[in-house]
Amino acid sequence: MKPQKILILGYGTLGASFAGLYHQRYDIRGLRRSPLPDQPCPLVITPIQSEALRAQLEWADVVLFCPSSGRGNLDLYRETYLDNMHFLIETVRTHNLSLSSIILIGSTGVYPRALEKCWQEDDAIPEESERQKILLQTEGALVSSGLPYAILRCGGLYGEERGHFYRYIREGQVLRSEMSNQWLLLLHFDDLCGLIDRVIQKKVTGETFNAVDDSQLRRSELAEWIAHRWRLPIVEDGLPPASPERRISNQKLKAVLDYRFLYPSPLSYLDKGHPLFPLPSKSN
Ligand SMILES: NC(=O)c1ccc[n+]([C@@H]2O[C@H](COP(=O)([O-])OP(=O)(O)OC[C@H]3O[C@@H](n4cnc5c(N)ncnc54)[C@H](OP(=O)(O)O)[C@@H]3O)[C@@H](O)[C@H]2O)c1
Repeated sequence: MKPQKILILGYGTLGASFAGLYHQRYDIRGLRRSPLPDQPCPLVITPIQSEALRAQLEWADVVLFCPSSGRGNLDLYRETYLDNMHFLIETVRTHNLSLSSIILIGSTGVYPRALEKCWQEDDAIPEESERQKILLQTEGALVSSGLPYAILRCGGLYGEERGHFYRYIREGQVLRSEMSNQWLLLLHFDDLCGLIDRVIQKKVTGETFNAVDDSQLRRSELAEWIAHRWRLPIVEDGLPPASPERRISNQKLKAVLDYRFLYPSPLSYLDKGHPLFPLPSKSN
């Protein structure tokens, strides 16, 4: 049987992780605007909103939609998510293209930050900010397009080179003012790749999933664990503000996709040692 053809729109860290892990299972192409040497799959260098997209979509079975706006302003945010999604849907429709699925790598940022609640996928979501509204509109455009889709609302992605918590190790200290009681919502890049693979293999469509790990950690707990493990001082620079008791359920993900996390928590990942941030040796 021929391998399925996966087109990654917005090939970056996630695209490279997915291609690295699954280039033998799938025929993979990445699409981005700037060249990136030494990748495990061919790259097409073009913006999503270009004439060239049509030929790539004609080739593909599954589209992974994962461009990122980095730290861009609101206009760039809208263009990256909503405008690109509209362009994708329009191209598929206009040329009557047949895809088995469009997988949107969404964000837990669709849920309000201020409300104290454990959010499930089917909850009605009040709009709180412009960025959140753009994320919701992007999902809405895909859901109402009539095209087959799956949405993974991801927590903060981390891996070898990415993760907010590496800053503590880089700076050699943890600030008490940053050790809030906020619940962390995290997911390792390799687990996200595993979840995408599971969605494709199980041919899951028409579903939205919260994609966060099992860690149930507060920001203060992770900071304290890292301080202890890397022997970093905790600098008493004032108390952090209180955070709302906001959580995101991953029950649906585990039940429907029957997925077991490679890294249920960042502690299980960090505890095995890190190539960029080695643990201090016992004799030091
Ligand atoms: N990081 C997180 O914590 C987090 C949390 C939840 C969800 N997500 C989502 O996860 C997805 C993957 O994130 P990532 O870490 O892999 O991001 P990334 O490393 O920044 O990669 C995204 C790539 O998209 C490309 N891109 C941006 N705009 C484009 C356009 N108009 N046309 C073609 N390519 C475009 C960029 O390359 P060029 O500039 O060369 O085009 C960039 O390398 C994103 O959709 C992000 O929103 C991330």
